[in-house]
Amino acid sequence: MAIQWFPGHMTRARRQIQEKLKLIDIVIELLDARVPLSSRNPMIDEILQDKPRMVVLNKSDLADPQVTEQWVNYFAEAGLNAFPIDASSGHRVGDIIPKAKFILADKIQRQLNKGINPRAIRALIVGIPNVGKSTLINKMAGKNIAATGDKPGVTKGQQWIKVGTEMELLDTPGILWPKFEDQQVGYRLATIGSIKEEILHIDDIAFYAVRYMAKHYLANLQERYGVQHVPEDLEDNREVVEIMEEIGRKRGCIVSGGRVDLDKASMLILRELRAGKMGRISLERPNEQEVF
Ligand code: G4P
Repeated sequence: MAIQWFPGHMTRARRQIQEKLKLIDIVIELLDARVPLSSRNPMIDEILQDKPRMVVLNKSDLADPQVTEQWVNYFAEAGLNAFPIDASSGHRVGDIIPKAKFILADKIQRQLNKGINPRAIRALIVGIPNVGKSTLINKMAGKNIAATGDKPGVTKGQQWIKVGTEMELLDTPGILWPKFEDQQVGYRLATIGSIKEEILHIDDIAFYAVRYMAKHYLANLQERYGVQHVPEDLEDNREVVEIMEEIGRKRGCIVSGGRVDLDKASMLILRELRAGKMGRISLERPNEQEVF
């Protein structure tokens, strides 16, 4: 989370992953199910080249299941095998090995034809910080052995983690940078808590989140906070601020004089959104043209 991505870091991260690619059969590209494109590395195709891979949409417990389904289809149309998991609970983590066997079926068959007994499939998990790489490694390994912390540049001896008899995982995941030059991406990542709040102001992040919620999940806002205000035109910023103020008032985020403390309300909104308290929310949809 605390990585500062400078050009040198990016080059090193890329080189480290490319070194690891030589050792493995398949890449597990981990994305955040709530923001699959925004949590994707902009150079992923170039970095992975033609290495077999699957796209795994993590934290699907927090994402809108209908939108997740749309994303699965979106990736399928792009020729990528994608499916949702929840690495924390382990939900559908068990699908990873069968999916890998399916993707590598031709290669496995060729080995069998030559009379070679296929060895365990070697896999590497890659993804941007905070997407759940360590959680997934731990879940697949069945015990807490994944390296902690994201420290590009720290070199360690490669170790393989056995996942049953059919897969081996590299113990250190590949850490990639997000597409942070795009402001929309920045706001989405900040909303889910993957970008430090010092970079974007908390009020602006919450504003972004509430505007999106008011557009796509107004009922969730109303249910959670009893919000009465129904915005007519979300292009009008005052409409969004009015909702934020209403939430702040209802939750006692008040400064002396009775004014709503927008910073406090913003923190509350984001904390609850990230914890799934407003329901299962996706912040990005396939082919979404609008700016929020
Ligand atoms: P990383 O290695 O890719 O950087 O991510 P990491 O596994 O450290 O996970 C980042 C945060 O995301 C952790 O929360 C982790 O618990 C949470 N997480 C990972 N997978 C899932 C998932 O499928 N669903 C949900 N809801 N959360 C997930 P944290 O608050 O940073 O730490 P902690 O609460 O686990 O202590």
